[in-house]
Amino acid sequence: MLVLEIENLSAFYGKAQALREVSLTVNEGECIAIVGANGAGKSTLLDSIMGLVKTRGTVRLHGEDITGLRCAQIVKRGVGYAPERFNLFPHMTVRDNLLVGAFTARNEIAKNLDAVHRLFPRLAERENQETSTQSGGERQMVSLGRALMSSPNVLLVDEPTIGLAPKVCGELAKVLQRLSKEMGLTVIVTEQNANFAISLAERLYVLEGGRITAQGTAADLSKDDILAKSYFGA
Ligand SMILES: Nc1ncnc2c1ncn2[C@@H]1O[C@H](COP(=O)(O)OP(=O)(O)OP(=O)(O)O)[C@@H](O)[C@H]1O
Ligand SMILES: [Mg+2]
Repeated sequence: MLVLEIENLSAFYGKAQALREVSLTVNEGECIAIVGANGAGKSTLLDSIMGLVKTRGTVRLHGEDITGLRCAQIVKRGVGYAPERFNLFPHMTVRDNLLVGAFTARNEIAKNLDAVHRLFPRLAERENQETSTQSGGERQMVSLGRALMSSPNVLLVDEPTIGLAPKVCGELAKVLQRLSKEMGLTVIVTEQNANFAISLAERLYVLEGGRITAQGTAADLSKDDILAKSYFGA
């Protein structure tokens, strides 16, 4: 079943166009990756889904047009977002930062907090630590955890591996796969790290200069070195 359908989506910052007629689909429970270099439009694409950028085109969630809705309304409809720069409150504790994500799911705080703590035991151990004193990997956990506090059925994650050691990337890939395989979440991850994206996603889309230039499974894309050609310019 289709969860998300994006049709001919263009995005604009004033007169500058950052996305050009992007179309993509995501099925229920699927984990897909958007791969692209700096400035390709990855963050803009996720921001556009969340209603944070001026766009033209259509975004449908469970068959319903959500284009033009405000971000809070989109979160209420079950889309969780872990953005690129986290936007955590540095002088608040881990726990309070997680609770910020619960504003649309106040009745499910205990259940969701428990699930986040099971996923990231470190966050339970460090409940009272200020996020300003956390490592990059720990902040990434808080950011993902905060998105999960809104009881999402679709999770958007922007470049989760930035600044993370390879070992931590491996652990993160496992967590994201558990979310889709065991918990049934539909997951969309953007990445510059093509290897991480391949290790994680069932299908990939390549984004270049605001356009989708290739798509398919990792096997499809490796056939003619499409990923390497379009992404590394090789
Ligand atoms: N707030 C903004 N105002 C004007 N232009 C912007 C703004 N945000 C992004 N852009 C431009 O839109 C294009 C796409 O940017 P975007 O941040 O989506 O790329 P990205 O793929 O996420 O890159 P990165 O990997 O560096 O995070 C870039 O050319 C960027 O300069
Ligand atoms: Mg970005």
